[in-house]
Amino acid sequence: MTRTILAIESSCDDTSAAVIQEGQVLSNIIASQKTHKDYGGVVPEVASREHIQKIIPVVEAALVEAGVDKSELNAIAVTRGPGLLGSLIVGVSFAKSLAQGLQIPLIEVQHMHAHILANFAENPVPTFPFICLTVSGGHTQLVRVNAHNEMIILGQTKDDAAGEAFDKAGKMLGLPYPAGPEVDKLAQQGEAIFTFPTANVPDLDFSFSGFKTAVLYFLQKQTKEDPEFVDKQLNNLCASIQENICETLIKKLKKAADREKISTLAIAGGVSANSGLRNKFKALCDQHNYEGFIPHIRFCTDNAGMIAMAAWYKYLEKDFSGLGMTPEPRMKF
Ligand code: KG4
Ligand code: ZN
Repeated sequence: MTRTILAIESSCDDTSAAVIQEGQVLSNIIASQKTHKDYGGVVPEVASREHIQKIIPVVEAALVEAGVDKSELNAIAVTRGPGLLGSLIVGVSFAKSLAQGLQIPLIEVQHMHAHILANFAENPVPTFPFICLTVSGGHTQLVRVNAHNEMIILGQTKDDAAGEAFDKAGKMLGLPYPAGPEVDKLAQQGEAIFTFPTANVPDLDFSFSGFKTAVLYFLQKQTKEDPEFVDKQLNNLCASIQENICETLIKKLKKAADREKISTLAIAGGVSANSGLRNKFKALCDQHNYEGFIPHIRFCTDNAGMIAMAAWYKYLEKDFSGLGMTPEPRMKF
């Protein structure tokens, strides 16, 4: 029997559906919500309304692209959390109805587990144990991955996430939301000539709130002297911000590898799409002979393909949820 799962992701501002068959992602449709740009950040109420509008066409497109009919599905998977409550409700309610209608099992997925398991969407895949640096808009974590379904957090941010640091610093430069990809683009034409103080956080934890304040004070001081400072130095500022955040992340990843004595490493999450981080990660692996894994960019930012991947391993263990399952905005790791 060919085992086929439909997966749904709606935790923030991307409505996404994917089909996975025997561990192979056949389709991965993502509808990103553009309206939030006008507000400079995600407006939860607007996000849930857009999910409601998009979920049916997105699911239909995922089935069509995969060449799969609803009647062929063996399970429905969905992100249970963490995420925005209103956004999660749309995906979870839809998934539950479909599972009930088709009389097939429901699989709940933890969004951050899924980011990590995106590393299994394409060959070659990491061997266990490995360490994953997961960097997204809401999380920054160093995780020891012992098996597909066995992961331990070694360290994480005490305040802002790395993606937030990119977005907030970029916003100060006048870049549109989400500023992370914009900073990345402009950084490629600039040089990291400015330095900002980096928080000295013990162990394998991170802190980015001080960095944000340092950028703010630096910009205030410079624009007082030259009101056109940001315009003139935009590319260099982006390169400097990117360098600072990525260097902090890579240093801690190296520390985790040393402490755990593990030489297989991976990165995941929206910020792992960043060209600076990808380059630094490759350089780290080359320098120390680590085996490094980076998901394809389409599996880095939020997508249902990664939810499908996580669901596949839960399906193999028959780890199903009852239809009474409810969204968990603060779902534990
Ligand atoms: O994983 P993700 O899509 O959503 C969450 O689970 O949060 O991550 C979104 C975050 C945003 O902060 C966005 O600015 C950042 O990832 N991001 C990037 C890049 N692409 C996305 N940050 C820096 N460079 C990029 N190329
Ligand atoms: Zn995410």
